[in-house]
Amino acid sequence: MRKPFIAGNWKMHKTIAEAVHFSQTLCKEAQQFTRDRDILIAPPFTALSSVAKIIAGTGIHLAAQNLHESPQGAFTGEVSGAMVAEAGCDYVLVGHSERRHIYGETDDLVSRKVKAAWESGLKVIFCIGETLEEREKGKTFQVVEKQMKEGLKAFKEDDIERLVIAYEPVWAIGTGKTATPEQAEEVHVLIRDLQKKLYGSVAADALIILYGGSVKPDNMAELMAKENVDGALIGGASLDVESFLRMVMFDKPE
Ligand code: PGA
Repeated sequence: MRKPFIAGNWKMHKTIAEAVHFSQTLCKEAQQFTRDRDILIAPPFTALSSVAKIIAGTGIHLAAQNLHESPQGAFTGEVSGAMVAEAGCDYVLVGHSERRHIYGETDDLVSRKVKAAWESGLKVIFCIGETLEEREKGKTFQVVEKQMKEGLKAFKEDDIERLVIAYEPVWAIGTGKTATPEQAEEVHVLIRDLQKKLYGSVAADALIILYGGSVKPDNMAELMAKENVDGALIGGASLDVESFLRMVMFDKPE
């Protein structure tokens, strides 16, 4: 059985004080649910240590939004996997579309970051998804397949415990255009089938696949109702703690 996985990606939002306030409320309201679902927040680097202290022992997960592919070195402005692990993270996001499209991260770089994350003992939320142009040309499956094959070169069957995949169609991120539950399910099935073909049915059945792109409290339950949608990676709607809590408790309406 795959547990629901609800993740908030704060991007470049929240001061340390705001992050602390959010985390205190989250712990108070959501700790009781950590047994039957995974809850994760990904604050900016500056707030990681402070948030880690608050959530310690609650079962809530902490992710960094990025890491450098090297363990250390002369890379001004960069942060390594060991550094974010030391700050208290157990996960890191890799391959987010904003990293791919704004900062030019290629599949090759993404694959080196996945490897670096695993070498630092971190679990990975590996993000993939097509642009609007690619979807309109009917290339969605091709794009997702290439991103998986090239980005997960370091994957071995035993790594399944350390991998979560987030399908995030680029045209749905921050645009208010959510994929329909059917569109999300269609691609999630493809991802699981591909995982099966590449690594076998044990790795495919256990794989947690999140949907991301304009997920909100109002559409969370219908997305989660799909068999292959195991959770959500939420940007904008995760910034407000009440809104995030509603999505954490998607199956427990007041
Ligand atoms: P959004 O972002 O929920 O604001 O569309 C999702 C993401 O980028 O992970």
